Parts: sequence; C-alpha cells; structure tokens
Amino acid sequence: MGVSAHTPVVCLTLSVVTIALFAYVLCVCMSDNKPTVTRITALELELNLGGDSLKRARRNLRTVADEQRYPFLSERKLKRSQASRSAPREELCQLAPEERFDCARDRSVSRSECEARGCCYVPLRDNLSNGPPWCFYPPSYPGYKMGPLSPSPRGQAATLTRPTPSYLPRDISTLRLEVMEELEGRLHITLKDPAHPRYEVPLSVAQPMKSPDGQETLYSIEIHPDPFGFIVRRKSNGRVLMNTTVAPLLFADQYLQLSTSLPSSLLSGLGEHYTPITLDLNWTSLTLWNQDMAPHSDANLYGSHPFYLVQEGEGQAHGVFLLNSNAMEVVLQPTPALTWVSIGGVLDLYVFLGPDPQSVVQQYHQVIGYPMMPPYWSLGFHLCRWGYPTTNATRAVAQRMHDAHFPLDVQWNDLDYADKRRVFTFDPQRFGDLPEMVKHFHQEGMKYVLILDPGISSSSPPGSYRPFDEGLRRGVFIRNTTGQPLIGKVWPGPTAFPDFTNPETQRWWQENIQDFHSKVPVDGLWIDMNEPASFVQGSLEGCPDTALESPPYVPGMIGGHLNSGTLCMSSQQNISSHYNLHNLYGLTEASATYSALLKVRGSRPFILSRSSFPGLGRYSAHWTGDVRSDWEQLRYSVPAVLLFGLYGVPLVGADVCGFEGDTSEELCVRWMQLGAFYPFMRNHNDRSNKPQEPYVFGERAQDAMRSALTLRYSLLPLLYTLFHQSHSSARTVARALFLEFPSDPNCQTVDRQFLWGRSLLISPVLEQGSVELAAYLPPGTWYSLHDGQPFHSKGQYLLLPAPLDTINVHLRGGHIIPQQEPALTTPASRTNPFLLTVALSTGGWARGELFWDDGDSLDTFERGDYSFLMFIAGESMLVSQPLKTNGALDGLVLGGVRVFGVPSPPLEVWVNSERLEDFSYRSDTQVLTIANLALPMAESFTMRWRL
Ligand SMILES: *[C@@H]1O[C@H](CO)[C@@H](O)[C@H](O)[C@H]1NC(C)=O
Ligand SMILES: *[C@@H]1O[C@H](CO)[C@@H](O)[C@H](O)[C@H]1NC(C)=O
Ligand SMILES: *[C@@H]1O[C@H](CO)[C@@H](O)[C@H](O)[C@H]1NC(C)=O
Ligand SMILES: *[C@@H]1O[C@H](CO)[C@@H](O)[C@H](O)[C@H]1NC(C)=O
Ligand SMILES: *[C@@H]1O[C@H](CO)[C@@H](O)[C@H](O)[C@H]1NC(C)=O
Repeated sequence: MGVSAHTPVVCLTLSVVTIALFAYVLCVCMSDNKPTVTRITALELELNLGGDSLKRARRNLRTVADEQRYPFLSERKLKRSQASRSAPREELCQLAPEERFDCARDRSVSRSECEARGCCYVPLRDNLSNGPPWCFYPPSYPGYKMGPLSPSPRGQAATLTRPTPSYLPRDISTLRLEVMEELEGRLHITLKDPAHPRYEVPLSVAQPMKSPDGQETLYSIEIHPDPFGFIVRRKSNGRVLMNTTVAPLLFADQYLQLSTSLPSSLLSGLGEHYTPITLDLNWTSLTLWNQDMAPHSDANLYGSHPFYLVQEGEGQAHGVFLLNSNAMEVVLQPTPALTWVSIGGVLDLYVFLGPDPQSVVQQYHQVIGYPMMPPYWSLGFHLCRWGYPTTNATRAVAQRMHDAHFPLDVQWNDLDYADKRRVFTFDPQRFGDLPEMVKHFHQEGMKYVLILDPGISSSSPPGSYRPFDEGLRRGVFIRNTTGQPLIGKVWPGPTAFPDFTNPETQRWWQENIQDFHSKVPVDGLWIDMNEPASFVQGSLEGCPDTALESPPYVPGMIGGHLNSGTLCMSSQQNISSHYNLHNLYGLTEASATYSALLKVRGSRPFILSRSSFPGLGRYSAHWTGDVRSDWEQLRYSVPAVLLFGLYGVPLVGADVCGFEGDTSEELCVRWMQLGAFYPFMRNHNDRSNKPQEPYVFGERAQDAMRSALTLRYSLLPLLYTLFHQSHSSARTVARALFLEFPSDPNCQTVDRQFLWGRSLLISPVLEQGSVELAAYLPPGTWYSLHDGQPFHSKGQYLLLPAPLDTINVHLRGGHIIPQQEPALTTPASRTNPFLLTVALSTGGWARGELFWDDGDSLDTFERGDYSFLMFIAGESMLVSQPLKTNGALDGLVLGGVRVFGVPSPPLEVWVNSERLEDFSYRSDTQVLTIANLALPMAESFTMRWRL
C-alpha cells in the first residue's frame, strides 16, 4: 500500500539505518488497524513531512545506532510483500546449459524455492558450484519496467519501477536510469535510487568539455522497457557489445546484479587475480575484494579492478568499467556472458568503444586518471629483503653490490628498522644510525625507501608514542560502532587504523611523515598491508552482528567473511562505512602519502602500494605481493604486469627471484632477466629464506644478472620516454602483444612475451632447464637487439637459442630507440653518452623519440620544463630534431649510432658537413656502427651514409 499526498494518513517516520549508508525512510501507516510497511519517495516525504525531516533522515545515513533501537523492522515484515510466483511453463525452460543465467546466485535453493521465484529448475548430471546452474531465469523474466525517457542535465533519464518485488530482501522498487553519451567513444549509464541517496565511489571524473551533440558516436544504445534492459552496438558494423536483456536487473539494498552477453570470449581484466591475460569463461567466478593474500589461483588478491576489455575480432575492442567499490563478484559463462554482482552502492557503468584496444585503455584512463610520472631513479634497480637486521647489514649489502659492479639505485628496508615494529620510529640499537646511513646512500648517488604500514600501535604507554596519542586526540582513526577507535592487530600488536578519507587524518599523516623525514630523509615510501590487513577478524573485540558484517549474500572470498583478515564492516570512516570503503583503503592511503611526500620533499613522490583500486596509478607504483620463488609464479608475473598496465598502474613488477621460499640460482637468473623488463624492478626476499642478492651466486650466474641489469640501465632513456607517453597520453609501457597487433589472431592470448611500448619485444625464458624458446614474432622485421640479426616474420613462431646468459629482445623495424651507456646508478648513467639504435623497416625508414627532463621535479610536462627530440631515419639518412629544449640535455652528447638493416656497405658517412672515419659495417648482419661521436644532444644533426 502506497502513501500519497492525497490520502490523509497518520504517519510516523522512523529513520532506520539497516546498514550504514542505505537508509530507508519508512512510514508505518495505520490503516485497517494493520500496520503495513511501505517505502515512500523523497518527494512524498517532503510533501508529508517537510524538508527538515528528509535532511534529518539523510544525516542518519551515517549512524548505525538506530538499527539497535528499531529492531522490529525485520526482514520478515519486508518479505511478506514479496510475491510468490509459480513455475514457468516447461517449454520456456528448454535452454542449453551454457545459456542459463543463475536465478539463485544469492543462495542455494530447492526445486520448490526455485519455482516460487518463477524460475526454471532443470537438474543436470553434475551439481557444480562452478558449472551451469540448475535454477535459472526463463526468457522475459519480470523485472523493472521503464517509463518514458526525458532529457536530463547530462543526457536522458527515465524512471524504472518494479511492479512485483524480486526474491531479494530490501528490494529497491523505483530506480532512476540516466544515459549519458559523453564522448564519441564513451557511454555512461547510471542506475540509482532516486529517493534515498546511496553510497557512491568518491572518484571525481573529469567531465568531457563538450557532449557529442552532432558528433557521431561509435555506439548506439537501444533500451527495452519491459523487462528493462539495454543493448549497446558498435555502429560501424552493428555488433552487439552488450545485451543486458539476457537476464533481469536486480537492485536490492545489498544485492545488485546486471548480466550482459559478450561478443567474444577474449576477455581481459577484472583483477587482481592469478590468471592468464585472457580469462577462462567456463563458469569462472572472480571476487573483487582487497585481501592480504599471496598470489594463487581462485583467490581474491590485494586489489580490485572492476574493468574488462573484450577483443571483439577484426582488431576491434571495447571496455566496460563498473564504478563500484563494494565487494563484488563477476561470473563468467561460456555463452559468452558476464554477470556483475555487487553488494552495495549504485550501478555506475562506463562503456568504452575503442575502436582498437589501445584506445579503450586510453578512454578508461581518461575516467580513472592518467598515471603519474615516476622519478627517473625509480626506474633503476631496487634491492630489499625482510631480514636486514641492522644498518650495518644494510650498508654491507649496498657495498657488496657496488664492489661486484651491479647497478643499484635504491636500497630498501622492511620492518626490521622500526622500534618494536612501530611505524615512524627506528630501533635505537640496531638502526641507531639510520639517518647517517641514508645520508651516506645519498652521497653515493643512491636513494632509500622503507616500509610504512598503516596500522598505528595502540598499546604503547600513554605519552610514549606520539603518532597514536596525537591521532587519538585528533580523531583520525576508523571508529567502531561505539564510536571508539577500532583496534585490530598487525605487526606491532594491537593497532588502530587511520581513516584516510578524513582531512584531519591527511594532515596528521603528513605531519608524521614530515617529522620522520626530518630525521630519516627517505626518498619514497612503501605502503604495505593496506587492504587493510589485520591478523584478527574484524577487531580485537570481534564485530557486532549486523547486516553489514553478514549480508544476505557474500561473494566467495578467502576466509569466507567480509571481515576475515581485515576490519569490521560496520566500522565508520568519515565519508561512509568500511563496508563501502574497504576496497578504497589503499587508494586513499596512497593519495594521502603522495600529498605528504610532495609537501615534504618538494619533488616527484615515489610510493609503492600493495592494495589497489582504479586511480591508484595517479599516485603509486604496485608490486604483485608475496610471490613464491617458483617457476609458475615467474610465468604468471608476466600477465600480472601486463594487466596492471590496463588498470593504469604502469610502474609495476613482481618481487624478482620470488619472495616466499628459497630461490634457486637458475630461477633467480631467469627472474633477474625478466625483471630487467618489469617497469618496476625490485629483488625482495622473505626473512627466513636463503639470501638472493645477485652477489651471492656463482660467477656465471652473476655475469648473467649483471648483463641483464646493464641492459636495463642502457635502455632507461627509452623506458623513461615510455613513461612520459603513459603519463601524457595513457599509452601502456609494458604492453600485451594484442594491444599493438590487434588484428593478428596469433597475438590474442600471448602472455609469455610482451612489448615495451611499440618497439621492443621481450621473450623471456619461463621454464626450468630451458635453453631455447619458441617466440612469436608478429608480421614485420625484427632485429635482435644484441647484434642486429634480422628476422623477416610473416607472423610466425621462431625457435630462439636462450642459454642462461641470454634474454631475447628484439627491436621492431621502423623504430629508433634512445639508449645511454649504463652506470651503477642513474645519476651517473644520466650523464653518460647517449646511443641511438635505428631499426630500418623493409621500406628503409624508422622513427623514434626521447623525452628528457631533470628526472625529479613535479609536473615538468605540464609546465613545459622538458626537452623532446624526434629522430627520423630514411634509407641512408638519420635526422635528430629537437622539437623542444629546456637545458636538461645541455652538456650531454650522442656517443654512437647503430643502424640495423643497411643492405650494403656504406662508402662514406657524413654528420652535418663533416666526413667521419670511425664507422664499421658487418655484411653478415647488415649493421652499420658509428662510434666515438660527441654530438650535442640538444642540437639537431643530420647523418648520411652513401651506399
Ligand atoms: C548442489 O550442491 C550444493 C553445494 O555444493 C548444495 O548446497 C545443494 O543442495 C546441491 N543441490 C542438489 C539439488 O543436490
Ligand atoms: C538480447 O538477448 C535476448 C535474450 O537472450 C535475445 O532474445 C535478443 O535477441 C538479444 N538481442 C540482440 C540484439 O542480440
Ligand atoms: C568446463 O569445466 C568443467 C568442469 O570443471 C569441465 O568438465 C569441462 O570440460 C570444461 N569445459 C571446457 C570447454 O573447458
Ligand atoms: C656497526 O659497525 C660499526 C663499525 O664496524 C660498529 O662500531 C658498530 O657497533 C656496528 N653497529 C651495530 C649495531 O652492529
Ligand atoms: C570499540 O573499541 C573499543 C576500544 O577502542 C572497545 O573498548 C569497545 O569494546 C569497542 N566496541 C565494540 C562494539 O566493539
């Protein structure tokens, strides 16, 4: 029974917060002496009760106390209004198993319960949780019904209503749909509760400057009013990219479900999981819930990325982003189709039309933010382990690296440094001279990073640990339901957790970093354990029994409960409950740490975060967590790194040589070789393992590692330029082959090889005992970077020798890459002579570029404080053209050039108007080498060779 302004009824409003943010304003109306419970809209509420009550009701969104006061509003009463349907006619249930959409995702049901939902119940031979469902929707299962579309401020909108309730508790029967055609290649669709604002992810998306009025969009959208669903097509060929009419939309307080068909089975994304680059659609369920969990299959890991990319065929691709931070499950089925299930928030969906995969990534990054520009030094080699017990031990490691001539830019410490494992302190005995050690590293041209966990020890005697005392005083910690700091347990013992959504917390965090930095001038911070992880479930006091801790449906996750290994869901943060904000903890910590470091150091921040969410790449790098030292983990690190490129976190790598367990010499060599091509390269080891610093191995292994490291250092100008492209135009750094060769069917699932940008193909050994590998070379000319040996590929696999000292790297014809003579640190290598390697295409041309700045200042690109060179080569000519200079290249010279693919021996070589004597040519490999140059980098030059 509804309440309208025309019916005189006696209303009593009670603001009830069944779960923190999702308030129901209920009217208990006395009619016929029977109480009925009806939801009323905001409009009706204002008419009946005036705006103040509404405001009061909204304020109450933030408390949970009412729930305890009004327990009578139980689910039983709400359920009474839910319809019981009858079983569909049998002929409607003749669906092939793979066509079935699960009608009982929320819980397992019997035949009678299934049929009471109006669903089909057709048992199969196997009853598998990861197989076709037995209880499924018949066609045109009733759902929402859409009213007329009308113009809205940002697009078009309509009201959706549910004539009959669904089978879920606390259905939301009226929804507002808004369809926004934001850009040529970007469609934005939202579904919200118009009456009661629900939690939304606080991601500020830059709105497009202009709507595509009059501009052709790449998509068309067709809406089916009853039951509601929509179809998105690619205009150019009519391909159906999404069809949500395949199953009903469900929108209840703690259960939102939307299914769509997919135009192909080549689906990537939906991290963070331990998977290949394309996902298995054979009834796979992926949970998105940030968890402290070492990478292994079928587990939700540290980050959540509700984004997928589909390779449609013919080189085209589209992407979909569901902007929602609640615990989520994504079910994939072979139809092919996909079902999103989220247990809170709203449905806020972006569709990116590409049309090519690299454009999809760019369109996605326009929404979540382009990646930050990393400091140059952070592209060098990083060395860490848990278990450098003293400053002396840490110094000795750096010294031994130096003595053995291994490049090393950044020395790290794990929690060993901290006094009683409490952050913002250092052990007065073992690390008493930490400040001096860091200053010493700085004198050597190195940088220093240490770990900073979010948990703040809460058990030190009052007055003895300022971060906690001060934090308590200023109210910076996440609160439990009785309003006190929630106490969990992490490395230092009992800990409180800063609420980074609170501006006061951000100030307090910055002051602590400032204070610590004034003693220990760290160059970057490693924010670990920020899922956030806790060693107890919820808190030391447990958690209250509420619908937030145990919702009607919990996606399959490690530990089985939302609060397993983390905080109580009912705990309160400044902008919402932890239930809603959990997946954002690492992102909000990264953002606060970025601001703090920027303020304290005044230069480009370096942060390494374990937990992630869309947008993390604006602030932070990422590593793949506690990988085991084994070959399978080595192999899966490649898709992990490539996927984080799609997620907008290009500065990413796995712990080189593995973290958990003892590594072996062979594994560690292969891992150093692959790691030399991770955008972020850090060797990191667990406390109880055998050491794995490069210098502990035999001579042959050391030589192989040294050569991998010096190869990386020689390529840093290229890598830095790629990061500039990522920062300025969202192009991926470590790049899956399908992004670069979208029309080549052989590239669709390749994830044992990858590219740096467009030009460099890396083919690592990923198997124990292998000394050769079958590498795929996409169509074109590929030159061995090592000696210029050309391969003219029609798109074929090639068996390449790969002895222990070799990683195969090929340069693509048509490209020029900037290199520099390596050194033991980047401050040293940055002053060395540059080298250009020119790989001529079969047509005899090539091009490339170099971005260069001081490597450390903020926003150099934005402020125009950089140099940018363009290199162009023709059949017998190379030109360097500075398009912009700022002095950053002053004093730096080009020392040499290699030209791959020169068909015959040059007779003479000229630079500008000067004839050069110092050149050589090898007719077996067709490589022209010009050495001993000293051409100022900042000035243009023309080099010619006469054949
Ligand atoms: C199917 O399996 C699930 C759990 O694996 C169980 O709960 C359910 O009762 C089973 N259904 C039937 C009809 O056997
Ligand atoms: C969308 O899906 C429905 C249900 O499976 C199907 O009947 C319909 O033909 C599909 N529409 C398009 C355009 O593919
Ligand atoms: C899908 O998975 C099931 C059970 O796990 C298996 O029996 C079946 O062969 C798989 N199908 C395909 C196409 O891989
Ligand atoms: C570190 O080494 C120095 C010099 O050898 C020595 O004096 C000092 O006691 C050592 N410190 C620790 C904590 O071992
Ligand atoms: C909230 O935390 C305090 C400690 O800060 C504890 O004493 C209290 O029992 C907790 N309340 C609940 C409901 O867990």
